[in-house]
Formats: sequence, C-alpha cells, structure tokens
Amino acid sequence: MSTHHRPAGNGQIQFGVFFQGVNHTTVWKTPESGSQTDFESFRRVAQTAERGLFSAFFLGEGLRLREHLGRIHDLDVAGRPDAQTALAALAAVTTNIGLVATQNTTYNDPADLAHRLASLDLLSGGRAAWNIVTTDNAWTGANFRRGGFLKHEDRYIRAEAFVQTAKAIWDSWADGAIAGSRNAGRWLEEGSITPVRRKDASFDVDITGRLPRSSQHHPVLFQAGDSPDGRDFAVRNADVIFSRHAELEDARKFREDIVARTLKAGRPADDVKIFPGQEFILGATEAEAEEKHQWVREQQVGPETAIAYLEQFWGRTLTGYDPDGPLPETDPIVDVTNPTRGNAFHGASAKELAAQWRAEATEKGQSIRQFVAARSRLNGRGLVGSYDGIADKLAEYARTGAVDGFNITPWIVPGGLDEIVNELVPRLQDRGVYRTEYEGTNLRENLGLRAPLSRRASLNSGRNGAGLTESENVA
Ligand SMILES: Cc1cc2nc3c(=O)[nH]c(=O)nc-3n(C[C@H](O)[C@H](O)[C@H](O)COP(=O)(O)O)c2cc1C
Repeated sequence: MSTHHRPAGNGQIQFGVFFQGVNHTTVWKTPESGSQTDFESFRRVAQTAERGLFSAFFLGEGLRLREHLGRIHDLDVAGRPDAQTALAALAAVTTNIGLVATQNTTYNDPADLAHRLASLDLLSGGRAAWNIVTTDNAWTGANFRRGGFLKHEDRYIRAEAFVQTAKAIWDSWADGAIAGSRNAGRWLEEGSITPVRRKDASFDVDITGRLPRSSQHHPVLFQAGDSPDGRDFAVRNADVIFSRHAELEDARKFREDIVARTLKAGRPADDVKIFPGQEFILGATEAEAEEKHQWVREQQVGPETAIAYLEQFWGRTLTGYDPDGPLPETDPIVDVTNPTRGNAFHGASAKELAAQWRAEATEKGQSIRQFVAARSRLNGRGLVGSYDGIADKLAEYARTGAVDGFNITPWIVPGGLDEIVNELVPRLQDRGVYRTEYEGTNLRENLGLRAPLSRRASLNSGRNGAGLTESENVA
C-alpha cells in the first residue's frame, strides 16, 4: 500500500463527482434534465466519471426533506435515495471508482453503520468511503424523537467517539481471521476477533465486528464540516476533507490552516487530502461558456428561489420584496435555533451578516436575484471558461498545491460530466496534471493515501494489527 502513497499537493489534480440531487444548484427544469431518483441517472453519471478516471463518486445525505419557514422547501429537488443503497447498486456496474457515502454520526449508531460501510467496502472490492458529517440543521432531529438533539460542540464529541468505535470494529478481525482451509476445524481462527467495548458519555456498547477487512483495510474517511471543531476533528480522524474552499486563494489559505492543524495532531503535513466542491461551466470558447453561465444561473436562481434563499438567512417571510430590487432593509430574526431555519446563519451574527450583504450588493449594484446567484458561485461552485482556459487554471491549482482535487457538482443530471470527461480531462492529461490510468486497485491506493491511521497506530506500538489498541483503550 505504501508504494502508492503520494504527497498532498503533488502537482496532480484528481476528480470526484458529487451527484447532488437536493440543492438549488441542480437544474431540473430543462428538457435535458433526467430523473434525480432513477438508477439509470446514477449509472450514467458513475460510468462517465469512471471513463474520465475519476477517483470517487460521492453522495450526500439528508434524513428529512429540507424545510423552510415551517414548510417543505419544494422549489428545488427534494429527497434522494439512500446513499449506501445507491452505491451498492453502482458497485456492480463500475470497477475502479471510489464510492463515497455521506452518513452522519449524530443519528446513526456505530455497530450498524460500521457494518454497512464495511459491507459496501467488501462488496465493491475496497472502494468504499464514508464522508463523516454531524448534520446541524435542527429539523432532522425531529425525525428521531430527539428534538434539536445535541449542541454543536457535543456533536463533535459524539462524532469522535463514533469514529473511534467504528475503526475499532473494522480493526477487530485479525489479518487472516478466516481459516481459509477446508480442512480447518473452524471457519474462523480461534481468538481472531477482538470485541469492542466502549463506555463513555456518548456510548455504552459491547460490539462484535461481523466482517473481515477489505483490500484497503477499511473504508476511506472523508469529512465535511468547516468550523474550527470540524477541522480539528478532520485532522485527527479523516483521510480527505470535502471542503467549501474552492477559489484558488481561499483554497491556499485553507490548505495552510489544515497543514498547521495536521502537524499539531502529530500527522505528516501531507496526510490529509483536500477536495473542495466545484461547479464547472465550460464551452469551446470563453464567450460560449459565459453565455451558458448566465443561462445556468437563471435556471438555478429563479425569482422565488432568490427570495426563499434570503428568507432562510433572515428567518422570516420576505414575500413583499421584489427579486429584481435591492436586498431587504428589514433586519433578520436573530433566533439561530429555529428548527426550520437550518444552519444558514450558523456561526455568524445574523444582523451583522445581513448588513454586510446589503453593503456588498449596494456596492456592486446587485438585485436580490443577482446577489443570490453570485453567492452560489462564491460558495465554491463556479469555474467558468473555455476548455483550454479552465485546463490552464487547473494546472495552476496543481502547481500551487492548493488542493488535491475537486468534487465536481454537475448542474445537470445525467449529462453534466460529458463535457468534462470528453474535453477537459484530455487537456489536463496533455498538461501532465491528470492521471492516464488508475494507479491502484482500491480507493485508498487511487487517492494516494497511506495505511489507515488505526493500522499505523497498532503497527507503531508493535501490535499485530488486530486492532487491540483501540478496542482496549476505549473500554
Ligand atoms: C462541503 C460540505 C458538504 C456537506 N454535506 C452534507 C450532507 O450531505 N449531509 C449533511 O447532513 N451535512 C452535510 N454537511 C454539513 C455537516 O453536517 C457539518 O457537520 C455541519 O456543517 C456542521 O459542522 P461545522 O460547523 O464544522 O461545519 C456538509 C458540509 C460541508 C462543508
């Protein structure tokens, strides 16, 4: 495995694809737009991505339909199939691409989730990954009879305990646990499974792992969460960060911050890979791309969507406001815990942010609709340009080492990767910044990762890698 390790920021760019479904950036109104739920759409996107030598196919998670001021938010795609079920089906029609399931640590339990992820990992031949999130929109909690359930900081305490327990479960079968001989008396080598016992504020469990390791040992760990707590959690636990910091300068600063945190956590500087979400709007020429860009933004941010977007942040209805007029003068409600409000103003003071937005829109002469359209681009979604122009831009990202790759968010399904794979990928290969074949046989190798952290810990302490370290420590 170590022969495949490549340092982060090594002059190469990788791609993942984030099949979003639920999100205001998914254009669903145009005739080319296919189903958001049929397997055929997932198959087509995943196989196109694999043809383009993408590292990963990525699915998000929402455990309850998004709500907006007490109603279901129904202007955009609402609802999507369960990630692990969809990925298991895709495992059968793909060979190399990684399969990343976003799953939260707040509403799941380790014994169950670790087993399902290990199952996906084994059945896909070592291609599974888990994107760890804590999910802080309060309406999700109502699904689970727990109300808002757990304060922000407590979510990361539970997340850490959760991941340690999951890793212990994945480590609990020794190498060679299955006897492997028809003449053996037992199917399993005796004593080859270490039980996982954990008792702390988050869990009181006694778990027996139910599966052997996969070829990549256990699923790769992604993390998506941006607060200081979230970043520290990532450098202690994850292999890859799915970030919001896509713009070059912002990405560079984010990398610096993550490297500093990684070193502090006692890991090599290049141990954590960074893949920001990124939208691509391409054309044969700059002018064609710009024209498409205007069209895409109009499709994504209609008049009602623009008002609804602001309402989320203002925490109140803004129906009287003209989408083509200036931002509302009225102040937002500063109640951050309203369960239908989501995490819109999370970590920021609502009034201050509203004032900042008003000033920014006034300075740029933007209407509500233009402002919202521009914001969705600023959120790290939007490389707009010609095939050659964007290939040059990506070569610059590769050279500066700001990111290891991008998690591409196609604005249309299922055809949204076609241009990227047919036009952009060959240009990146010509520039020497994109792979020409899959390097390894599992996701960990293709991402250029070292052995899992838990595995390294057990090897360093002279154990046999049977996962005793964590299982015992957490007891
Ligand atoms: C790029 C990105 C993608 C995310 N995707 C999801 C998702 O699909 N489902 C989900 O429940 N949360 C998602 N989250 C939010 C996480 O739940 C995260 O835990 C939350 O933002 C709170 O953590 P934080 O305060 O550290 O950001 C995402 C976050 C980021 C940054």
